[in-house]
Amino acid sequence: MDTPVVAHDRSELAGVLPEAGVRSAVVMTMGALHEGHRALMRAARAAVSPDGVVIVTIFVNPLQFGPGEDFERYPRTPDADVATCADEGVDVIFAPRRDDLYPQGEPQVTVDPGPLGRELEGAVRPGHFGGVLTVVAKLLNLTRPAYAFFGEKDYQQLTLIRRMAADLEMPAEIIGVPTVREPDGLALSSRNRYLSADERRVGVSLSRALLAGADAGPSGGAAVLAAARSVLDRHPELDVDYLELRAPNLEAVAGPGAARLLVAARIGATRLIDNLEVQLSR
Ligand code: PAF
Repeated sequence: MDTPVVAHDRSELAGVLPEAGVRSAVVMTMGALHEGHRALMRAARAAVSPDGVVIVTIFVNPLQFGPGEDFERYPRTPDADVATCADEGVDVIFAPRRDDLYPQGEPQVTVDPGPLGRELEGAVRPGHFGGVLTVVAKLLNLTRPAYAFFGEKDYQQLTLIRRMAADLEMPAEIIGVPTVREPDGLALSSRNRYLSADERRVGVSLSRALLAGADAGPSGGAAVLAAARSVLDRHPELDVDYLELRAPNLEAVAGPGAARLLVAARIGATRLIDNLEVQLSR
């Protein structure tokens, strides 16, 4: 197991980026790495082959947290993260300091996520996706990968990053990786560690609601939403922000075929999101 090179600023990064012609892939993270991140790293390695370069970025991006959100308490586990990256054969870790990524403080020019950025998560977390897309654009420009991997767990984020790359002619290919789940179905998230044992038991109802919805797919969209809602309603501890059925590109759902069921809820002080593909027969 080789230890990855750790670059703490953009000049160190520039010194370890691969030469032209060597394929590279980036996995962007905020650290607190878990099995879901490992799946992204493995997908990245498979895409670039053993000769290519896998880069993991670790940066808790202040721009994507709103006032009163968990920026300060977001888990930071740098030593464990380096060990995880080493275990997965990552070549380069880019873990910049805040003043290296934002040398002039808050950027004056940012990426506007468009109308979808103000729906679903964006309606509950104003400004969130502008912060996400701005840092993703900066990290793509700094790392210049052929491929960038993101988890489907943050499905709206993945959709918006794809749209940004297409609309702004960004050369990296954006690739989504399926959500990794605990054996009982809970989607892996760095925020799961905030949950008490009781909250953890309630948290699994999000994925159960999505599965109940997916089972109702043959009966159509209204049945999907009703089945999912009936699971959520059994848990008064859940404060549901939204439960929505959308087309795979997150536009309004239209007719039979694949759709995406998305849920977000608070349990105590913790906010969880999840989503699942649903096949609608009508
Ligand atoms: O999904 C995340 O961890 C973050 O939103 C990302 C993509 C690393 C940007 O800060």
